[in-house]
Amino acid sequence: MKFKLKIEPSTIDLFYSAHWKVMSMFFDDPTQAHTNELKATKELIDKTEIFKGAKVLDIGSGPGGLVAYLAKNYQCHVIGIELSKVMCDSARKLIESQNLTNLVEIIHGDAQKIEFEKGFNFILSMEVFSHFDDKEKVIRKCFNSLKSRGIFAFTDSILKTKEITKEIKDICSVWVSPYLETIDGYAQILKSTGFSIIKKEDITNEAIQYYRNRNNKLKALKEKIVSKYGEDAFNNASKAVSGWLSLMEKRLSGHCRIICKKA
Ligand SMILES: C[S@@+](CC[C@H](N)C(=O)[O-])C[C@H]1O[C@@H](n2cnc3c(N)ncnc32)[C@H](O)[C@@H]1O
Repeated sequence: MKFKLKIEPSTIDLFYSAHWKVMSMFFDDPTQAHTNELKATKELIDKTEIFKGAKVLDIGSGPGGLVAYLAKNYQCHVIGIELSKVMCDSARKLIESQNLTNLVEIIHGDAQKIEFEKGFNFILSMEVFSHFDDKEKVIRKCFNSLKSRGIFAFTDSILKTKEITKEIKDICSVWVSPYLETIDGYAQILKSTGFSIIKKEDITNEAIQYYRNRNNKLKALKEKIVSKYGEDAFNNASKAVSGWLSLMEKRLSGHCRIICKKA
């Protein structure tokens, strides 16, 4: 059964402005600002075999952890596209503080709407595709923007059940996700676009651990968060994190890491 919630880009922007205020309290060191921890970012980079000096696009670059890491450690030329102004500001601050402005550009815009430059060696995206209303359209844009034999790799939430329950719809609504694709659904879209799949992994167990860690950090910081941003801010962040965690623990949703190549 398919479902699709109507979610405006402005709602996604509002969600991340509020959510990021709370989540940023987790990081004393802004280079650690990765949605699923630095470990997950490094793993995607290793598996994708990114090389020094490559031209990379990061879709939904968020607070900039991945773009900064690639520029600093691989001297990559990186473009990040990001919908939320608050996230763009945070990423630009990080990039300036790391003296990486010559290698990184953050574009404020909606990846579903804006044109992508051409000639990328790699296109990466972490925890973003679940927000897209038309995932196929963005995947096609990725294909067209990559060089021949370029690599597209992403991690994101997936649907793991055929029955769409109220709980799934409620949590998707909280997380401003119009719908979740299945891992096989992604594989089908990628193949029909012209990509050949190099690796397709279900990483639900890893993701559960990240969300458990996040939930524990939230609880530990409760007093600080409430005194700085109020009870509602804490409750909303907590509802979002524990909601995804609950869906994953019940195996209603999960997580994938997919790496594919433009033939
Ligand atoms: C869960 S965060 C992930 C951020 C970053 N990739 C990371 O792993 O830390 C999802 C990000 O996707 C961005 N996003 C959602 N929809 C988008 C769109 N249509 N275009 C560009 N960015 C989008 C959000 O604003 C948010 O910063």
